[in-house]
Amino acid sequence: MSVHSEIRKVTTHRLSEMKLKQEPIAMLTSYDYSMARLVDEAGIDVILVGDSASNVMAGNVTTLPITLDQMIYHGKSVTKAVQRALVVVDMPFGTYQGNSKEALCSAIRIMKETHADAVKLEGGSEVIESVHRILSAGIPVMGHLGLMPQSIHKYGTYVVRAKEDEEAEKLIADAKLLEEAGCFAIVLEKIPAELGERVAKEVSIPIIGIGAGNGVDGQVLVLHDMLGITQQFSPRFLRRYHNLAAEIKGAVGSYIGDVKSKDFPNEKEQY
Ligand code: KIV
Repeated sequence: MSVHSEIRKVTTHRLSEMKLKQEPIAMLTSYDYSMARLVDEAGIDVILVGDSASNVMAGNVTTLPITLDQMIYHGKSVTKAVQRALVVVDMPFGTYQGNSKEALCSAIRIMKETHADAVKLEGGSEVIESVHRILSAGIPVMGHLGLMPQSIHKYGTYVVRAKEDEEAEKLIADAKLLEEAGCFAIVLEKIPAELGERVAKEVSIPIIGIGAGNGVDGQVLVLHDMLGITQQFSPRFLRRYHNLAAEIKGAVGSYIGDVKSKDFPNEKEQY
């Protein structure tokens, strides 16, 4: 038996089993082949090809400018590397809000061209027609509620969402709507922990939090943030597991020093 055939791919069904067994789901972003390979080999359950690639990879201030072609490029690079994790690709801003037919075409392009396992989109009742249409084509959909970065110009700020009752009730109703429609999971971003826990209890599909407390069914972080490659972004919910920015700068500094001093390459490093 080859090594590859021993790997059991994570499925949407497996994620619902994990919720039933109260086994927390670990999810991280990746946007390229090399990182996705490491993250997958480390044993992550879900890889999100997030539209945060707009910030992290392309240096944009928001997630709005990233295009469908660019997301497909990132998605393809990631799926080539991944053997075990479930791969979800974000539908970028402007590719699903207009109408459900356009949404379906965008989702089909993502699935056909990237070979991902599922798509993710932001919103509840406002996009429910699109969600239904994508699901009816057999494409698994992950929802995203709470802070929705594609709506940043509507909010005007990245502060915690749904602190007031009205917004919290709308979020719960939206989560139930997404569950009823057939979404396999929902990301909840930057909301009070108590609300995150309530949603996780009231819906049967897995709830993956980012800044939504510890009472949800899993957690997601942006890989470059948790590795300490990005330095400017420090929300309370972010735990940094490394300071890779310092390590990378140190290694590059050493290389520059070695080149300048003519220490590199040495005799063993040449032909
Ligand atoms: O784009 C992204 O990285 C995301 C996560 C923050 C959940 O949507």
